[in-house]
Amino acid sequence: MIKRILTGDRPTGPLHLGHYVGSLQNRVRLQNEYDTYILIADVQALTDNFEHPEKLHDNVLAVAQDYLAVGLDPNRCKFVIQSMVPELTELTTYFMNLVTVATLERNPTVKEEIKQRNFTRGVPVGFWSYPISQAADITIFKADLVPVGEDQLPMIEQSREIVRRFNSLYAKVLIEPKAMVGQIARLPGTDGGAKMSKSLDNCIYLSDTSEALRKRVMSMFTDPTRIHPTDPGHVEGNPVFTYHDAFNPDKAEVDELKERYRLGKVGDVEVKQKLFVALDRFLEPMRERRAEYQAHPERVREILMDGTRKGRALAQATMDDVRRAMKIAYDFAQ
Ligand code: TRP
Repeated sequence: MIKRILTGDRPTGPLHLGHYVGSLQNRVRLQNEYDTYILIADVQALTDNFEHPEKLHDNVLAVAQDYLAVGLDPNRCKFVIQSMVPELTELTTYFMNLVTVATLERNPTVKEEIKQRNFTRGVPVGFWSYPISQAADITIFKADLVPVGEDQLPMIEQSREIVRRFNSLYAKVLIEPKAMVGQIARLPGTDGGAKMSKSLDNCIYLSDTSEALRKRVMSMFTDPTRIHPTDPGHVEGNPVFTYHDAFNPDKAEVDELKERYRLGKVGDVEVKQKLFVALDRFLEPMRERRAEYQAHPERVREILMDGTRKGRALAQATMDDVRRAMKIAYDFAQ
């Protein structure tokens, strides 16, 4: 049987190069081999944006446009709007019985995100428990594979635990999913910080114009120990070279730049200019595809509705099995 992919993104802003290396690249690569469902996770995004739902509303279409721009084929991939699949909420409720408070409290990704968010009225239950709803996202579509960034690994582990628990308690209905992380597990921000993040303002977006891209690249952090272009520089841990490795297809050029950098024979400006050219070439086909869809927003809406309809039908079929397994499928009418 053809295997299935499920993954997703919170529609909180445009997608960036970090999303690309972490997950989008794998999705594009595998879309012909796998039955692919991609969730635009507006319900999950509400868990920390419930005071500003309008932000998410505007970004659902933007994220769909990013998917299409990056080369996800709407004839192969189903883009599913999470809030339009209410069965997910139902499955989340059942899963809540299978997870302990202590396990949720240990989730390292949620812990880290709570720190970054500084919730003034305490951590909302919805946010704190979103790994349970994410397990529902993954399992309701009976996914085999989940292409995600490294920070999402605890979520997949949580999903696997829930599946084992469910299948052993009730019946073997659910599939234990595997995570797949991108070749470059985590892309640093343009400021050299651990990761690209909208709130840190250190992103290069897939939708950036040439001009925006040039500004970002030319102001990137490099080797902090290097003052003059004639000082021997460090290539390892230098975000400009990390990006060259990830996005410049001309490996000979990258090797040559690295060698001269180590010897103090090339300035940051030249290294950055070449990175700009490589990234601009990388983004150009995305800009072309995006422009086509922007001229036809009704096509994007149709694609979303079609994907959501197919996703919901699959979710409903899984829920029939889930309810039967849990002995809450009643047939009094007969
Ligand atoms: N938590 C993911 C993120 O922040 C988004 C997401 C929601 C997701 N549901 C998912 C990812 C299911 C993979 C599978 O990016």
